[in-house]
Amino acid sequence: MTSQFYTTPIYYVNAKPHLGHAYTSIAADVATRFKKMQGCDTFFLTGTDEHGDKIVQAAEKENTSPKAYADKISQLFQDVLPLLNIENDYFIRTTNPDHIQVVQSILSTIHDRGDIYFSSYEGLYCYGCERFYQDRELVDGKCPDHGTEPATIKESNYFFKMSKYQDWLVNHIQSNPDFIRPKQYKTEILSFLKQPLEDLCISRPKTRLTWGITLPFDQDYVTYVWFDALVNYISALGYPDGQRFKTFWPGTRHFVAKDIIKPHGIYWPIMLKAAGLPIYNGLNVHGFWNVQGSKMSKSIGNVTDPVEVTAEFGVDAFRYFLMREMVFGLDANFTEDAIVARINSDLANDLGNLFSRVLSMNMRYFKGQVKGTDPELDGQLSLESAAASAIDAYTAAMENCRFHQALAAVWEFVSAMNKYIDTQEPWAMAKDETRTRELSSVLYQLMEGLRTVAGLIFPVMPQTSKKMVTALGLSLTDKGGFCLEKIRAWGQVPCGITLSKPCILFPRVAVKKEAAAPVDRPFKPALKEEITLEDFSKIDLRTGRVLSAEPVKNSSKLLKLQVDLGAQTRQVIAGIAKTYSPEDVVGKEVIVVANLKEAKLMGEVSQGMILAASRKKDLILSGFDDAVLPGNPVK
Ligand code: MSP
Repeated sequence: MTSQFYTTPIYYVNAKPHLGHAYTSIAADVATRFKKMQGCDTFFLTGTDEHGDKIVQAAEKENTSPKAYADKISQLFQDVLPLLNIENDYFIRTTNPDHIQVVQSILSTIHDRGDIYFSSYEGLYCYGCERFYQDRELVDGKCPDHGTEPATIKESNYFFKMSKYQDWLVNHIQSNPDFIRPKQYKTEILSFLKQPLEDLCISRPKTRLTWGITLPFDQDYVTYVWFDALVNYISALGYPDGQRFKTFWPGTRHFVAKDIIKPHGIYWPIMLKAAGLPIYNGLNVHGFWNVQGSKMSKSIGNVTDPVEVTAEFGVDAFRYFLMREMVFGLDANFTEDAIVARINSDLANDLGNLFSRVLSMNMRYFKGQVKGTDPELDGQLSLESAAASAIDAYTAAMENCRFHQALAAVWEFVSAMNKYIDTQEPWAMAKDETRTRELSSVLYQLMEGLRTVAGLIFPVMPQTSKKMVTALGLSLTDKGGFCLEKIRAWGQVPCGITLSKPCILFPRVAVKKEAAAPVDRPFKPALKEEITLEDFSKIDLRTGRVLSAEPVKNSSKLLKLQVDLGAQTRQVIAGIAKTYSPEDVVGKEVIVVANLKEAKLMGEVSQGMILAASRKKDLILSGFDDAVLPGNPVK
């Protein structure tokens, strides 16, 4: 397999990292990790763009020099990477001396080849974008990004003959279908290229701006910041002689958002062509994250800090949300409700429950020992082909940056496994000694399914993936766990080993409710007659732990529980079967009415009652915030 080079834009150091930067970097990290799983040699680059007016202005506001300011903000971008679990191979800064040298050498080459000329120019200049605009690019005479009227500037400057390469570029884009993806952005670039392309002003006189790279052929000018910035993609690889350039440049995939497709889809390929270099492989363009329905902006106060979100919800949950929620190429909306909903439903409910259900059953029925599968039963019980279909759908989607689809394919398999448990009813097998082989086969199939899921989610949720793999008794040093072809091989969970009690993969997140003004309304159902403290003290509530549970015959509502009350074990019949399956409640700490007179329910003796809250038709067991010993009074 070829070597692959993945890049993010290099971010301006005029503001600290936000959600949008985090998304591109995570998407590129996910794509890189996926390629590694396919066995590719990869190089992943990110960094900071540190020259130009924007930085000078930001530094001035803080009364500091551009370099000191750039050092500070660049460090923030570097610090955020490990927090987001981004594994970059290099971090480039455009103020690095070796980058500066490469920019100057590319400028000299293009100049020597006759594609840079000096001319006087009058044009409309947006200081925010640091570039000249053509009339037709403006919206109501204003910069489309900044909403401000550009200034008319007359200057003598150096120009890059982009127009000369217009036909070549159109042809290149048309004959390389994957050059710009998704398709709508390719269409956008091609439609822009229907108009004559103007030459690009690539210098700024030092009388106006000194914070930049001096032109090698005129000391009175600095390089236009975009010409400087784009070159980072090759200077970081050690162009021209570095081995990395030779190895990785042919397999380059850039990741950017839609705001910077013109520099990447037009200037950059033409710069490469003019310098006599091979053109990059592909440009992957995504949409914008809005927050609470609006574009992120300081004035609205909705600029979302990825460090804060990660601290609140965990890095894997954040990465999962970003990759699952955004359709690559389209805009998406970030809200706290949306991330909480995804965590509670996809992660805690679907995946987390499946993981703990399977490993808890194995703990209960086989004391944690992996018994393996019965080859005779394999045909009927195997989940292998469902897993293979999930791997195929996942791979096809990942290849096309359709991260949301890849994850949907994995979750379809997770749902299929949850359904498999419901239809196989392992708890019924456990009650019948003649079905032990069936039971161990079902559990083994599920463990293999979980192993497959753990491997597939690795690029998006590396921590969770590792937790799952370890819990399944597989060694992390065995790289096979994260090699796509090896994930496919069925039967890797080692038979005979004993697994420990499963950890909770994703705790549910409490849904924050807006505090409503307190209004007294009548209780539903109506409150019972008032009692005194003395009346209440007659009820003896104790802590208990459910030791075992099984359905009560002929009842769809009742479960028969054996509850440890410290001094005694009690049998309690509880009306919770509609909400909980037996394996859900084993091990739970509950509150028991311990001095309730013995009663019979559906022919079964009940020696107490456990407390539960009603929620519509469900009953939800009450529990404790922390571990308690059975038999302690509850007051
Ligand atoms: N310095 C240039 C890039 C030079 S690359 C040779 C630049 N920097 S930037 O700090 O403005 O970063 C722009 C990039 O940040 C976008 O292309 C995208 O990757 C990311 N995002 C910034 N805001 C975003 C959203 N609201 N949503 C998604 N990504 C966004 O442009």
